[in-house]
Amino acid sequence: MNILWVFAHPEPRSLNGTLRDAALTELRAHGHTVEQSDLYAMQWNPVVTPQDYAHDRARRFRVAAASSAALAAGTQAPDIAAEQQKLLRADAVVLHFPLWWYSMPAIMKGWVDRVFVEGFGYGIRAADGSTRRYGDGVLGGKRAMVVLSMGGSEHTVSPRGISGSLDELLYPIQHGILFYTGMSVLPPVLVASADRMTEIDYAAAESELRQRVKGLPTDEPIPYRSQNGGDYDRRFVLRENIEANEIGVRIHTER
Ligand SMILES: Cc1cc2nc3c(=O)[nH]c(=O)nc-3n(C[C@H](O)[C@H](O)[C@H](O)COP(=O)(O)O)c2cc1C
Repeated sequence: MNILWVFAHPEPRSLNGTLRDAALTELRAHGHTVEQSDLYAMQWNPVVTPQDYAHDRARRFRVAAASSAALAAGTQAPDIAAEQQKLLRADAVVLHFPLWWYSMPAIMKGWVDRVFVEGFGYGIRAADGSTRRYGDGVLGGKRAMVVLSMGGSEHTVSPRGISGSLDELLYPIQHGILFYTGMSVLPPVLVASADRMTEIDYAAAESELRQRVKGLPTDEPIPYRSQNGGDYDRRFVLRENIEANEIGVRIHTER
């Protein structure tokens, strides 16, 4: 497999930097090729520029290239195009980050904002005019997985934990970005209590990560319901007879 490892940590010698190195070693030892987007090391610009916005907007509204802004819209920034090519080459994509304020670090959000543009991440039309998303899209057929560490304990992301369940916490990323763009999302790898790890804890975390990356080609994805599989009505609301009386993000997973 060709794996794209997208990494957001400013310090390569951090816990996450060390875990990343171990994971890449494991993948290569199993014959996989790995491309990286080490966002801090690349000094990735997470800020959508006026040109980026004009390009995306022009595609969205099919604006004719009449004004200078629209002319600028004709070319996509080379750093964005390079990341899109990496994604297209990948069979599996890993987003690896420390949890910062319940989410990915801003540099990674800015990677998503700038790279997953109209015609690539969203706004993909099927022949019948419907929009391809949630389980279908340009990135369909690829696998994806989130690897994250957090300061809080595993209990804080248990079903009644104070941070909400892990599924809920990661729903915007796993469902709203990875599944939305067509990818099959594998269960995440969580390294909890990451600020107070003993050597034994670290060894266990590294071992689990090594196991999980070995499963990238074969592990079962989270069974999110596809948009067009018949479970949703025309407003994209789950039909009343499915998970009747249940609410919350868990209803969007087949059980
Ligand atoms: C800006 C910032 C925000 C954080 N937000 C959270 C959070 O929302 N939940 C949590 O459990 N830990 C949070 N943490 C703790 C980090 O997740 C933890 O320090 C990190 O996973 C440890 O990995 P590292 O040593 O590789 O940085 C935060 C840390 C920072 C610096």
